[in-house]
Amino acid sequence: MSEPLSPIPPRTLPVAARAPGKCIVFGEHAVVHGAPELVFAIDLHTQVFVRPSDRFRLNSDPEAPRRNPYFRAALESAWASRPPVDVRAVSRIPRSAGLGSSAALAAALAVAFGAASGGVGRAELAQRSFEIERGAQGVGSAGDTTAVVGGGYLAINGGPGEPLWTVRGEQRAWEVRRVEDPGWVWVVAHSGIPRSTGDAVRAVSRRLEAPDGPDLLAEFARVATDGIRAVGRGDRGSVAELLRRNQELLREVGVSHPRIEELIRAAASAAEGAKLTGAGAGGSIVVLPVPGKETELVRRLARAGAVPFVVRPEPLGAGLIEAP
Ligand code: PMV
Repeated sequence: MSEPLSPIPPRTLPVAARAPGKCIVFGEHAVVHGAPELVFAIDLHTQVFVRPSDRFRLNSDPEAPRRNPYFRAALESAWASRPPVDVRAVSRIPRSAGLGSSAALAAALAVAFGAASGGVGRAELAQRSFEIERGAQGVGSAGDTTAVVGGGYLAINGGPGEPLWTVRGEQRAWEVRRVEDPGWVWVVAHSGIPRSTGDAVRAVSRRLEAPDGPDLLAEFARVATDGIRAVGRGDRGSVAELLRRNQELLREVGVSHPRIEELIRAAASAAEGAKLTGAGAGGSIVVLPVPGKETELVRRLARAGAVPFVVRPEPLGAGLIEAP
């Protein structure tokens, strides 16, 4: 397993790679428009195993290069016209839940293909993973793929210190900085309501074109900027208050959901703060538990019909693992 931020070394096939999922603490949606975001990699992973083959396959499906947009985008941008490979992918990250399953698949494929093409540095890996996800989704920021490539807590377009790297899109660039891990445990809970990231991103983009759009975006940016500072100094009280404020803004731009609001209410007595995480319109919530009430919180969320996970930040980003 690689050290945080170390380059991916060259390997010959077969290779195995894995990438963590992610949780957005502050700033989703606004980050698409250049505002700051705080993300961390979570300790749930996607693994891929890549070996030579007579034709391209993903989980035994020879139609996958046509049917799976992430696989297709990964082959196009990180494998070019190299020989066919058989890819097996397994994941513990729930899909369409806002927990980074697509970013993890993109990054795990970028690691495996990068290793088998002579190795790749972290910054380039972040760029390639973003291009794979963007190629498949058509919209979005570099936040998710950066989180899973970098591991730990990362600030996008904010925070103090030197940038680790910058990911470039057609119209914008996202600068990435490390944020110190305050050592907290979080709970994420999946509502079970699937949604499309692309649809949600497009709907919020339209909402932000309204006359009050610039003010809303400025308030998203303020909350994320204060949130990055508050996590960096381990200030749970401020983080809790900013989670609540961020949720109000997400509600205002139309990406909350009655089930999300129900889950936030169900969490309340065991939570310091909570909000939706990811694109919303369904998906998951992230909760900062009252210390010592993590188990009660999980029980409450499960009783309310969600699938809860206790998560810790995964310090290692995407990397190679031993081939099975
Ligand atoms: O696809 P999700 O639910 O993990 O969320 C993506 C986060 C957004 O800010 C809504 C989009 C983006 O690409 O940053």
